[in-house]
Amino acid sequence: MIKRKNILKIAIDSPAAAGAGTLAKSISKHYNLFYLDTGKIYRFIAYNKIKNPKKFNLIFVKSKIKKLKVRDLTNKTLLSDKIGTEASKIAKNKKIRKIVHSFQVNIAYNPPKKYKGSCLDGRDITYKIVPDANFKFYITANLKTRALRRYKELKELNREISYSEVLKSIKIRDKNDLTRKISPLKKTKDSLLINTTNLTKSACFLKIKKIIDEKKNS
Ligand code: C5P
Repeated sequence: MIKRKNILKIAIDSPAAAGAGTLAKSISKHYNLFYLDTGKIYRFIAYNKIKNPKKFNLIFVKSKIKKLKVRDLTNKTLLSDKIGTEASKIAKNKKIRKIVHSFQVNIAYNPPKKYKGSCLDGRDITYKIVPDANFKFYITANLKTRALRRYKELKELNREISYSEVLKSIKIRDKNDLTRKISPLKKTKDSLLINTTNLTKSACFLKIKKIIDEKKNS
């Protein structure tokens, strides 16, 4: 695998709807980093499973990941709650995780030349995908705040869903992601905890920017 030297690598782990995606995007833009929302890869697999239930097996997943382009992950269909729930079931599968692993590692260590580095967010980024990241963050918020944020996002996309349904599915996903044996969501000792419950988007961004700039300039 090609590894670009002297690039800035930021790794973020977080439970669903904690605001990590928004933050990762603004941080990536500010520092000119290539951003990858790794949850979208599991969602992409889930979407293909729902669309082709009979064809779904490891060979099918491998062929889809081989052809996968990052722009395929921007499809708004992937944001649905149904796909998120299916993604968290799929993400328990060790063999599927292995297929996804190299796609993520390649982007983290060899982002397109025009970028100064990479920023990945997910559940196992800080300890499995980019264990030597220059900065590691664990971004979280309380359950109800996360559910409300996700509910508003889905409403903006005109999705028919109630707040209590969103709350329920986030609870299920949290349980799946935190308790699974393979690559569970966890905060590593070397990750900085950012609780976004009572912070605005710009306050979160400034907090992280300060941490990065202080270390970069020291
Ligand atoms: O981040 P997002 O909510 O879109 O992720 C969907 C699901 O994909 C998560 O609930 C989790 O089970 C799985 N996932 C994972 N590892 C990652 C990213 C996401 O297991 N690095």
